[in-house]
Amino acid sequence: MIGLFDRFARPILSALDPEDAHGLALKGLKLVPLPKPAPNDPRLAIRAFGLNFPNPVGVAPGFDKNAEVPSPLLRLGFGFVEVGTVTPRPQAGNPRPRIFRLDADEAIINRLGFNNEGEKAALSRLAARAADGGIIGVNVGANRDSPDRIADYVRLIESFAPVASYITVNVSSPNTPGLRDLQQAKSLDDLLARAIDARERMRTRYGSIPVLLKIAPDLSLADLDDIVGVARQRRMDGMIISNTTLSRPPSLKEREKAIEQGGLSGRPLFALSTRVLAETYVRVEGAFPLIGAGGIDSGAAALTKIKAGASVVQLYTGLVFHGLGVVSEIKREILKALEKGRHNTLADLVGNDAADMTAEPWPV
Ligand SMILES: Cc1cc2nc3c(=O)[nH]c(=O)nc-3n(C[C@H](O)[C@H](O)[C@H](O)COP(=O)(O)O)c2cc1C
Repeated sequence: MIGLFDRFARPILSALDPEDAHGLALKGLKLVPLPKPAPNDPRLAIRAFGLNFPNPVGVAPGFDKNAEVPSPLLRLGFGFVEVGTVTPRPQAGNPRPRIFRLDADEAIINRLGFNNEGEKAALSRLAARAADGGIIGVNVGANRDSPDRIADYVRLIESFAPVASYITVNVSSPNTPGLRDLQQAKSLDDLLARAIDARERMRTRYGSIPVLLKIAPDLSLADLDDIVGVARQRRMDGMIISNTTLSRPPSLKEREKAIEQGGLSGRPLFALSTRVLAETYVRVEGAFPLIGAGGIDSGAAALTKIKAGASVVQLYTGLVFHGLGVVSEIKREILKALEKGRHNTLADLVGNDAADMTAEPWPV
């Protein structure tokens, strides 16, 4: 089924406007009945944030912003799905065109600006599919015109706690003006203090709900010191590294499209996001696990992320350029690496190369 999709549907989708293609892919996932996926090799399982992941390959947020297709995505063999970003009220986002495919670079620039149907719509869909199970993260953000952005996060943690496996506090979208300022130490401390208060209130009602922080890759190491310091002090459950970058690596071939405003994802983001992941891992010192994202498009790339410190990984842009087959390829490659190194579990690989990576020259 996946092979058929990659062979016939993907060439059509890649000829369309990127946003239309994405809409069609979502429709297809809703309509086409998918068979149950093959069971995962038990060596791919990993426990993180108090959750048992059947395999470490997840769908990054942005793909299913409105929680329309989490169950079909799990059926494609993903170990987890993060939906969102969801904001309290629906919002239209920026004017189109706002997604650009840089084909020669296997990259995307997007400036969507948190277009989504809002909390109510996502909540009712997640409640309706709750019996399907699986690990579903909900990525939450503030409305662009919100008078109190921190209150938006608190409210969303409270409303999604009953239906989410974990909740991600997303302060790293480059497309909501001022949002990334919430990564600065003082604002971040205010935000996380209130987010963790909300988590504790929800724990008594619904059981524990891990709350993760997703960061940008465009940070100085001094910024990262502060962020990890605050996240550890506030006892966050984990971090996700990273969102898209505002930088434009000089290696980009599609120079004309590269000047579009927005966040860059895909292969050119790999080196930077992996370095920031390794830098985060050495600072966290095992206090909580990490999710790695940014430019994963193969088994080798996923393994590099895991060795840089990711317990589980997420991808989006790699699916656009390489198709759904990449999911099973990643699983196969991880198993091969485990066999080669005579490891019994994936956890044995996490962070093995982090210290060495932080000694390399900074990627540009
Ligand atoms: C079109 C598009 C929309 C995205 N929307 C979101 C979003 O709503 N929230 C979020 O946290 N990240 C969003 N992202 C970022 C991804 O979740 C991911 O962090 C980033 O793209 C790096 O992974 P990749 O290189 O595998 O795409 C989006 C990415 C793309 C390409």
